Amino acid sequence: MELELQHKTVFITGSTSGIGFAMAEGFLKEGAHVFINGRTQNSVDNAIDKLKASVSNANVSGIAANFKDSNAIEIIQEAIPQIDILINNVGIFASKLFEETTDTDWHEMFQVNVMSSVQLSRFFLPKMIAQNWGRILFVSSECAQLVPADLIAYSTTKTALLSLSRGLAQTTKGTKVTVNSLLPGSTLTEGAVEFLKDQASKDGKTEAQVAENFFKTDRNSSLLQRFAQPKEIADMALFLSSPLSAATNGAAIKVDGGSVPGIL
Ligand SMILES: NC(=O)c1ccc[n+]([C@@H]2O[C@H](COP(=O)([O-])OP(=O)(O)OC[C@H]3O[C@@H](n4cnc5c(N)ncnc54)[C@H](OP(=O)(O)O)[C@@H]3O)[C@@H](O)[C@H]2O)c1
Repeated sequence: MELELQHKTVFITGSTSGIGFAMAEGFLKEGAHVFINGRTQNSVDNAIDKLKASVSNANVSGIAANFKDSNAIEIIQEAIPQIDILINNVGIFASKLFEETTDTDWHEMFQVNVMSSVQLSRFFLPKMIAQNWGRILFVSSECAQLVPADLIAYSTTKTALLSLSRGLAQTTKGTKVTVNSLLPGSTLTEGAVEFLKDQASKDGKTEAQVAENFFKTDRNSSLLQRFAQPKEIADMALFLSSPLSAATNGAAIKVDGGSVPGIL
């Protein structure tokens, strides 16, 4: 399928590794100009090197900005005044029970997961509407609906993104701009690989056994019964960012391997 993403300018938050990195790689293969983001210049430069090694003629740039810092949005606004596609991908979590989750944890997760998306959308959406084309994608999570007991704060931020996404979509009526959200399920990012390794060494099991057990206990509802690959999430993001997805607006799309029960 020809995704018609050549020469589109894309900014992906939190994209030096994990799902964001897989999205960057996908957009670059389609000929887009991609701005990646991470907290430090060093991690951004390393990721750019990796992307240039994996995609020939990759048109990739980077912006170091930490969304916990109040100047992050200003740095981004100065670096990229205009884009075609914004992927609000950055997301942090703290695996803690509700009573152990501090105000600082709540504020940090809201700042990084929700407010970065609010501030970036407030800056870029009017420009997209003015040029009468654009895509904004919010990366939510299956946790927005599953709400695991140790991830209540994180899950709350991910549910907030769904309202934000739907609300902004409603402001695009009659234009060629769309705003959607994506709800990935458990995905085999570098972080998940580390978790499997740690748990395997603690329990005296193999990583495959830990993964199998995770889907029997924590994600028994998953129909996929395995971790998704980052590329499997990225491919859906690419389609939702493409001109081909023009008829999808205000939608929340599950890429969770069927872990959230129900048809819709
Ligand atoms: N992985 C999953 O199973 C899963 C499932 C459902 C939803 N999601 C959601 O999908 C999105 C991506 O998840 P992921 O697992 O790929 O994430 P990840 O591996 O934890 O993401 C790491 C990326 O985020 C950047 N980052 C972290 N904190 C940042 C901050 N304060 N400011 C700027 N960048 C920051 C890192 O940059 P540096 O390290 O270079 O600083 C790196 O590029 C998140 O919104 C997550 O909630 C993930």
